[in-house]
Amino acid sequence: MTQTLLRGRILTFHREPEAPDDTGAFDYIEDGALLIEGGRIAASGAFAEVQERAQDAQIVDHRPHLLMAGFIDAHIHFPQLQIMASWGSQLLDWLNGYTFPAEADFADAQHARAMARRFCDMLAAHGTTTAVAFCSSHRASAEALFAEAQSRDMRMIAGKTMMDRNAPEAVLDTPQSAYDDSKALIAEWHGTGRLSYAITPRFAITSTPEQLEIAGALVGEHPGCFVQTHLSENHDEIAYTAELYPDARDYLDVYEARGLLGPRTLLGHAIHLRPREIDAIAATGAHPVFCPTSNLFLGSGLFDDAGLRASKIHSGIATDVGAGTSFSMLQTLNEGYKILQLQNQTLHTLRAFHWITRGNAEMLGMADRIGTLAAGTEADIVVLDSRATPAMALRMERAETLAEELFALQMMGDDRAVVQTYIAGRAQKADG
Ligand code: GUN
Ligand code: ZN
Repeated sequence: MTQTLLRGRILTFHREPEAPDDTGAFDYIEDGALLIEGGRIAASGAFAEVQERAQDAQIVDHRPHLLMAGFIDAHIHFPQLQIMASWGSQLLDWLNGYTFPAEADFADAQHARAMARRFCDMLAAHGTTTAVAFCSSHRASAEALFAEAQSRDMRMIAGKTMMDRNAPEAVLDTPQSAYDDSKALIAEWHGTGRLSYAITPRFAITSTPEQLEIAGALVGEHPGCFVQTHLSENHDEIAYTAELYPDARDYLDVYEARGLLGPRTLLGHAIHLRPREIDAIAATGAHPVFCPTSNLFLGSGLFDDAGLRASKIHSGIATDVGAGTSFSMLQTLNEGYKILQLQNQTLHTLRAFHWITRGNAEMLGMADRIGTLAAGTEADIVVLDSRATPAMALRMERAETLAEELFALQMMGDDRAVVQTYIAGRAQKADG
């Protein structure tokens, strides 16, 4: 079997760093190497030692760049890649004005296939090797994304969005068609290669109670699938949800009462939560997902990271493209840092890089496969250049520690800092 040996500075996490000086949480090797064989990391460590295990490996010398586990984006909308940066409104108007019309185009399988290619290219260009994605309500859009990811051996968790009211006809399904299409997609793709299915009711406003009941039935029939939806992103959204579900104790209860909450449930945004909702999220093991660039762009609010952590809730972090304004998980950390600053909370850089790699992987129950550079795991790797732009190079002239370098990458980096991305051991950039 052909072997590839990547040489460079290696950074990988064993657990979440508790403080900026928690060096026991990670391995950093100045002259490190990863031996890749059959899409997996066969060995990881000091170059001199790993080289001994390599027979006739092709050596790719990435020095002086940093090698880390590929980034994981825990909430992103595949059919929204062309409506990023659409001006001027908060959530509900933004959905009606820009999002639903763009998603209507994904009924066309040819358009969906072309966009799936561009979407996966964008992820790889930004160092993201795993995504949890909403497709449109059309089965063809999910077919296109799964097929594209499969052709690249890319780890992808995705689902056809379920939505049967309060949107234009062109993006609506019905409870029955949502059930049938989700079932067919699960049968075809869930567990195929590196693909997983997420049962995907969009949010309370666009699903009738009948459809959410059916989503709950799907969860019961397919406990290995993920569930993804949105929760408490915006005050008007919360008020409208209360009108539509007058019997619910609160927004979360709309989902909770229908069996949609569990350790595989991802709740996009989860900004404006009541104490009961926080307790119920903790009790069910569900996961809020922090979407910093989106929350600022739509003026949605400030995610209470410290409050949720105090309740032992494990949150994810994500771009939420296309309300998110960047595919970059580095830029996501940049804006996330500022959101916590506004609340007198802290996001130190080691925790930040842990979050977009092993942290999100753990949330997905996949830390044995992705999110680290440990031997035996899948060879999803990003190569980062901390001096990628003139401004970054200037900053780096005064950086003396690894933490300083990482923080500069987090605050100033984007796809220009991504020299190469490996997905299942395969280089994605021709000039990397
Ligand atoms: N809530 C329901 N759908 C969406 C969406 O597409 N984007 C965001 N940000 N919030 C939502
Ligand atoms: Zn979203």
